[in-house]
Amino acid sequence: MSVPIPVNPHVVAASISPSSASIHDHFSTVRRQSITEIRQPKILHPLENEGLRLLILENISMDAVASFRGQGYHVDHYSKAMSEDELVQKIASYHAIGIRSKTKITERVLKAASKLLVIGCFCIGTNQVDLAAAARTGIPVFNSPFSNSRSVAELVMSELVALSRQLFERAYELRTGIWNKQSKGCWEVRGKTLGIVGYGHIGAQLSVLAEAFAMRVLFYDVINIMPLGSARQVDSLATLLAESDFVTLHVPELPETINMISKQQLAQMKKGSYLINNARGRVVDIPALIDALRSNHLAGAAIDVFPSEPGSNGAPFDDQLNPWANVLRALPNVILTPHIGGSTEEAQKMIGAEVAQALLRYLGYGSTIGAVNFPEVDLRAISAEQGGLIRICHVHKNQPGVLKQVNEALSPYNVEKQYSDSKGEVAYVMADIADVSFKELPQLKDRISSTDANIITRFLT
Ligand SMILES: NC(=O)c1ccc[n+]([C@@H]2O[C@H](COP(=O)([O-])OP(=O)(O)OC[C@H]3O[C@@H](n4cnc5c(N)ncnc54)[C@H](O)[C@@H]3O)[C@@H](O)[C@H]2O)c1
Repeated sequence: MSVPIPVNPHVVAASISPSSASIHDHFSTVRRQSITEIRQPKILHPLENEGLRLLILENISMDAVASFRGQGYHVDHYSKAMSEDELVQKIASYHAIGIRSKTKITERVLKAASKLLVIGCFCIGTNQVDLAAAARTGIPVFNSPFSNSRSVAELVMSELVALSRQLFERAYELRTGIWNKQSKGCWEVRGKTLGIVGYGHIGAQLSVLAEAFAMRVLFYDVINIMPLGSARQVDSLATLLAESDFVTLHVPELPETINMISKQQLAQMKKGSYLINNARGRVVDIPALIDALRSNHLAGAAIDVFPSEPGSNGAPFDDQLNPWANVLRALPNVILTPHIGGSTEEAQKMIGAEVAQALLRYLGYGSTIGAVNFPEVDLRAISAEQGGLIRICHVHKNQPGVLKQVNEALSPYNVEKQYSDSKGEVAYVMADIADVSFKELPQLKDRISSTDANIITRFLT
């Protein structure tokens, strides 16, 4: 939820001095300054004023570490992952942990994490964390699912040209000492039709890039989406397949997208067209694709994702992993890449910035927007001028009567704003209250956190 920042008319009015400039100019300058002043969020701290400690593993970007230290948090930064046993020994003194994909946060680790408030996965996936157990313990988990969209879109652009020019074949032949200059079956992409299946973060980026190459862009999506540029949404996958020279897939893996490109859909594609899959491995029925390539119905394919992928670099990609791997590897004009669609330095940097910001927003302001396992709740920031406000962040079991209890506890005070939401077994309410004296806070906090539904209650001042 994004909450608009109100403009305080008193601050604006008080600053106007019509004598020195035109009232219009002066008003807009002062208004801009005033909004800037009001927008300065107050940095909040836990009521107990305990210094927050962060454990950052797996060589997460130093920019992220610097942003935590900039907020005054203590950071322990390690380049390696930690085993479950190491984590169980260490984690008790930390309020936040940042990991990539190698560190596993299991229920056992969470049980040992008595102070832990939040987990940041500095990557796309969150399988390495027991998300349900984290939610039950009141710990939101943040990741960065869309920071590599541009990287994937750029890879697809390169694949369009490489397939269309049989680039990998020519380059491979020359590496083996064979000069084979030819133009037959090689095309410009200009004026060709690109069919994008799934017009989300990646599909939409790609649409803009492809039009800059003078391609005609069609897309198919299960929801109606405003096209970018001159792209056109079509009403069925069959229409897209029949009209496109290149078909590229950008849908999530869902029960309805598994094998969404199989024998029947491949037959609906134009003869001599190309298929690109940078989405998820099981979206394409690869044996059917192999048949379509062998019969020359398709002129080529680029595949970055596979139903089974090796767990580490250097591991073989063979028939033991996927029973058709060796046949696929031997086909001409097929580009095979090891799931590198989103793997760029830029994407890594953006992941660092995005997840660090999510952790800071949760620790400092209580916002759970973007959490993968948690109700998403936010309140607009308390500005520096609203000195007397206290922010209450109450994570509790999702059961009847909790809000009544909380609101009874808050009834002597003025609740300036309040928002709550639930997800599964967990609910979260945030409230900003005014006119509460510092002396009363410990008692109020005790009252709210002593209910049987309480999971974690934080007061930020
Ligand atoms: N190769 C890589 O390294 C790499 C990197 C990032 C993302 N991905 C994958 O790319 C895919 C797309 O990512 P995104 O960030 O654009 O996702 P997104 O959620 O932003 O967009 C997905 C789009 O697909 C649409 N969609 C869902 N089901 C559909 C269906 N049955 N038919 C047509 N459209 C459907 C959705 O409405 C949405 O617009 C995901 O599978 C993601 O895992 C791969």
